[in-house]
Amino acid sequence: MSVTALPAVTGAADRLIAPHGGTLKELYLPPADAAALDGRIGSLPSLTLNTRQLCDLELLLSGAFSPLEGFLGRSDYNAVVQDMRLADGTLWPMPITLDVEEAFSADLSHGVEVVLRDTGGVPLALLEVQDIYWPDRLHEALRVFGTSDRTHPGVAELLDRTGPVYLGGRVRGLQPPAHPDFAELRDTPRSLRTWFETNGWNRIVAFQTRNPMHRAHRELTLRAAEQIDARLLIQPSVGRTKPDDVDYFTRVRCYRALLSHYPEGQAKLSLLPLAMRMGGPREAMWHAIIRKNYGASHFIVGRDHAGPGKDASGKPFYGPYEAQALLERHQAELGIRIVPFPAMVYAVNRDAYIPTTEVEPTDEVRDISGTELRQRLREGREIPAWFSFPDVVEILRERHPAKRS
Ligand code: ADX
Repeated sequence: MSVTALPAVTGAADRLIAPHGGTLKELYLPPADAAALDGRIGSLPSLTLNTRQLCDLELLLSGAFSPLEGFLGRSDYNAVVQDMRLADGTLWPMPITLDVEEAFSADLSHGVEVVLRDTGGVPLALLEVQDIYWPDRLHEALRVFGTSDRTHPGVAELLDRTGPVYLGGRVRGLQPPAHPDFAELRDTPRSLRTWFETNGWNRIVAFQTRNPMHRAHRELTLRAAEQIDARLLIQPSVGRTKPDDVDYFTRVRCYRALLSHYPEGQAKLSLLPLAMRMGGPREAMWHAIIRKNYGASHFIVGRDHAGPGKDASGKPFYGPYEAQALLERHQAELGIRIVPFPAMVYAVNRDAYIPTTEVEPTDEVRDISGTELRQRLREGREIPAWFSFPDVVEILRERHPAKRS
C-alpha cells in the first residue's frame, strides 16, 4: 500500500467552519460550580436515562448539538416536527426530547430541577424543567420518519418504547458520561477542533458510518477527499445504531485496521456517541449539522444514508438519493458542504471500484450486500479480496465464527 506524506491542505479561508448557529454551546458547569452543588443533588428528583437519552445528553453537553441548550420545549418541538426548524427559524431536523412516564412528570412543575443520571446512578447533569407536555407521537412519527410503520426502528421506538410526557428545559453538565473503552478515539467538538487547528487541517470531509468499512467505503471516501482536496474525518456512530448491526467494539477494531490502508496523514478516526434514529433524509441533515459542529467543512452523503431498510410491504422507506436531495435543497443554510456520492460498485474487468454513474455497458459489476456478507461469515465461506481487506475480514471472522454444521 502506498504511504505518502501529504502537504498541508490550505483552503480559501484558514479558519475552521463556525458551529451551527454561530457558537459552540458547551453546557458543562465550571468544576467548582458543579462541586458546590454536591450537597443539593441528593434532595432533587432524579431520572435514570436510557441509552438513547444518555447519548443525546452527551452530545448536548459537549456542544455537538449546538445551538441546542437543552431538551426541546414545546414550541421548538412543534417547529422541528413541522418544519425542521427551531422556533427561531434555525434549521434543525431531529426532535431532541426527554421522554418520561406520566407518574414521574406528575410530581414536577415549572422551574424544578431534575438530576439526570446514568444507569449506575452517577449524576451527569441538571435539567431545569421549563416545559412539561404531551406530544402527539403518531404525528411526530409521520412528520419526522414519514411513516407509522413499526418495521422502521425509529418509529417502533417512538410509538412503543417512548414515555408519553416530554420534559423541556435547559441542561447544565456536572460531568461527562464515562467511557472505559477507546478513550483515545473519543473527541468533543472542542478537542477535535483543536486537533484540526494544531495539525493545520481546515478542509475536512466527514464520513458517517454504522457498518464495518470495506474497499468500497475506502474508495468512496478517498475519491471524495481527492475531489475537493480535503482531509478525511472518519466519524462512525458508536452510540446506538440499527438493531442487528455489528457491535461497535468490533467495528472500531475494523476501522483501526482500515486506517493503515489510507495514505499517511490523510484520515483521522474519531468516534461519535450518537443514538441513530435511522431517519433517512432528516437524519442525514442532522448528521451534517453535528459534523459542522465538530469542525468538518464537508460531509459525504452516499446512497440510502441512514436508511432503515424496507417497510412492511417490502418497499424501501426512502428513495436511495432522497437524503442527498434534501440536503442539497438546504445547502446554503447548512453551511457545511454536502459531497453527494452515487453507489460504488466493483467492476471485475477493471479490477476497480467505480461509481454507478461511470459504469459502461461493457463493465461486469459485482457487489456483496450486508446480508450476503453475514451469510458468508456464518458459513465460513470466502470473502473475496476485491470486497474487503484481509485484516478487516479477520476481525469480523473472530467476532462471527463460522457455525459448525
Ligand atoms: S449509515 O446508516 O451510516 O448511512 P452506512 O454505514 O452503510 O450506513 O453508510 C455510511 C455512508 O456511506 C452513507 O453516506 C451511505 O450513503 C454511504 N454508502 C455506504 N455504502 C455505499 C455504497 N456502496 N455506495 C455509495 N455510498 C455508500
